[in-house]
Amino acid sequence: MDELLDLDDAERLAQKVVPADAWSYITGGAGDERTLRWNREAFSRFRLRPRVLIDVSAISTETTVLGTPVSMPVLVAPMAFQAIAHEDHELAMAQGAAAAGTVMCLSTVATATPSDVAAAAPDGSRWLQIYVFRDREVSDEVIAQALDSGFSALVLTADLPVYGIRHREARLGFEAPEGNVPAIVAARARGGETDRHHALGLLEPGLQWDYVTELRERWKVPIVVKGLVTAEDALLACQHGASAVVVSNHGGRQLDGVIASLEALPEVVEAVGDRAEVYLDGGVRRGSDVVMALALGARAVLVGRPAMYGLAFGGAKGVQQVLEILRDEVENALALLGCRSAAEVTRAHVTQA
Ligand SMILES: Cc1cc2nc3c(=O)[nH]c(=O)nc-3n(C[C@H](O)[C@H](O)[C@H](O)COP(=O)(O)O)c2cc1C
Repeated sequence: MDELLDLDDAERLAQKVVPADAWSYITGGAGDERTLRWNREAFSRFRLRPRVLIDVSAISTETTVLGTPVSMPVLVAPMAFQAIAHEDHELAMAQGAAAAGTVMCLSTVATATPSDVAAAAPDGSRWLQIYVFRDREVSDEVIAQALDSGFSALVLTADLPVYGIRHREARLGFEAPEGNVPAIVAARARGGETDRHHALGLLEPGLQWDYVTELRERWKVPIVVKGLVTAEDALLACQHGASAVVVSNHGGRQLDGVIASLEALPEVVEAVGDRAEVYLDGGVRRGSDVVMALALGARAVLVGRPAMYGLAFGGAKGVQQVLEILRDEVENALALLGCRSAAEVTRAHVTQA
């Protein structure tokens, strides 16, 4: 059956077309994949508390993130090496996200350059995710090009000082298509040291919080810190000038045993208050998951793997389809929760199981 009703269908359709080694990279997690499972299971540890007899004849799923209007509180997470899923890689991802009316985060380790992405989806909103190269000039070039091409925020990924231990991809011998990745090619050309298995040796493992301030002061765009799960780090992010944080454990791909994103969300929301926007990623697969995250204080969520599934089976159209399924589900969940918009979802709409 080629039916596409929900994001589980999208996963099934994608698996038919993606080679096994690439599939292991996309779907796998670190270690025993406990955090990967917990991200999903955490949505069963909270329960929604809908209100009834509220006029929901007009619902809007629209909201804003860092001032950018989006059609729904769902953004596309940065994901490396999209060429393994589709020949049109990040270009198609950007087009699909733009067609669905939301932000695409472009990974540093992409085949398409920031200016390629801007040209492919000129009406789309986009943020640049950064991994910082040891050779800072390479990072600065990527950032400068992105900002020149209309990218409106920088998303600093904080949870990959080193690569997680991912057995699934190691067993299947997954090899990243690094030769297609301009940022890696540039870092190598400048004499960067390389790792036996991948280009991570080119990245800076010694980053500290002052880099957030440095980014903020140098580039004059909002900085998003992605990949924290504690109140302590959320406070530091605010103190160093972050405009938003993403509560994330990298989709369970880094340290196994780390708390599920949804379980970490309340403490981060409490620590941040109204000083920054709080987003969440990890395990979001349904509209009801999105409203649950909103009820626990997130302004928006990001989806990773489901967008990659859409890209794999249908290119830009597939990405759009996946995102529109989620948008319809968010609309339905808002109505059934008794909310006309994301702004009406409150802490009172959720309780712990
Ligand atoms: C195939 C793949 C590649 C990823 N590459 C990156 C990356 O380059 N930069 C980054 O910050 N996060 C990366 N992530 C993590 C995602 O941005 C996001 O945190 C995670 O996928 C969210 O969980 P979900 O897949 O359950 O939605 C990647 C995730 C996947 C699945």
